[in-house]
Amino acid sequence: MKVLHVIGARPNFMKAAPAISAISRRTALSQVVLHTGQHYDRNMSDIFFEQLGIPHPDINLGIGSGSHAVQTGQMMIAMEPVMLERRPDLVLVYGDINSTAAAALVCAKLGIPLGHVEAGLRSGDRSMPEEVNRLVTDQLADHHFTPSRDGDENLLKEGVDPQKIHFVGNLMIDTLVRQLEFARKPDLPAAQQRYLLVTLHRPSNVDEPQMLERIISTLEKLSEQLPVIFPIHPRTRARLANRNGALPKSQLHLVDPLGYLEFLALQRDATAVITDSGGIQEETTYLGIPCLTVRENTERPVTVTVGTNLLIGRDMDRLQSEVENILSGNGKAGSIPELWDGKAGERVAAILETLA
Ligand code: UD1
Repeated sequence: MKVLHVIGARPNFMKAAPAISAISRRTALSQVVLHTGQHYDRNMSDIFFEQLGIPHPDINLGIGSGSHAVQTGQMMIAMEPVMLERRPDLVLVYGDINSTAAAALVCAKLGIPLGHVEAGLRSGDRSMPEEVNRLVTDQLADHHFTPSRDGDENLLKEGVDPQKIHFVGNLMIDTLVRQLEFARKPDLPAAQQRYLLVTLHRPSNVDEPQMLERIISTLEKLSEQLPVIFPIHPRTRARLANRNGALPKSQLHLVDPLGYLEFLALQRDATAVITDSGGIQEETTYLGIPCLTVRENTERPVTVTVGTNLLIGRDMDRLQSEVENILSGNGKAGSIPELWDGKAGERVAAILETLA
């Protein structure tokens, strides 16, 4: 059975690495890796391939940035001839990015079986582009690999055949489990003490100048108490470049996006993490680090019900008071969700073998 993986942006790479590695050990399965090029900067893409030992993509479509329609459409146009030429028996897609939904549409129209890793997650918020991508991909997928039981429940509610739902656990956590011993902190003096770690890139937070301003001034206030390390996504950097006035004060350390191993070490040793990312809510839960999520909802509810995550919405006073709580030793404790055990990629490969 020939499996073709479609990956495109930073959070895909950590999810695909364990599946690629597990499939490579099974003789009934062969594989091809296609990168759409959605993320193209070295520190958003290549560095992850190197650090996670993912083979160089067999195909890179080089699509890059664009509006959602342009990006998704160009991916579909470029992907169709590749699928026709390579004729995979199954395509595996990951997560909820535009590359995921583009591949799902192409496969559905060509009649190529589709497996979705990280299926079934729902924020219930269709203003998020990722939620639209999740809905489209799950409607079209033939095999749903879910990271948590809520994923199974959501799919069942939407009428997905239970036979097609496979609760395998979290592949992103497989990568974390494998790489934790190699994690190494970047050379930042602020990272030698207690610090807050921040990432923000959601359009709802960074594309609206007033919201971005409120967040940055709150982070500036927090940085008077302890250093704040903020690796900046290119989207956020572009928005900050338009900000009136000076860049934030010195205890707010704006750094370029980091490699996987460097960011993992920063999470492991952080006093708390402030984020709007999906994956980081999960990684902090696994690591037991308090996470404050600057969103009204999450498609990853186990990080709240079981893990260390708190949804603080857009309320900056709450953000400050929750940081105070954590600093006074009252951060939220949590435990590790079911099947977040480092073996999810093996479970995916074992299921694919039964289909071969
Ligand atoms: C994408 C995913 C999001 C994921 C995020 C992780 C979708 C809809 N969103 O959002 O779910 O959490 O990746 O990073 O697919 N850019 C660069 N260099 C790059 C990549 C992007 O400069 O290597 C800039 C471009 O100006 C681009 C902007 O970042 O316009 C946004 O990139 P894009 O891939 O469209 O969406 P993300 O915000 O990264």
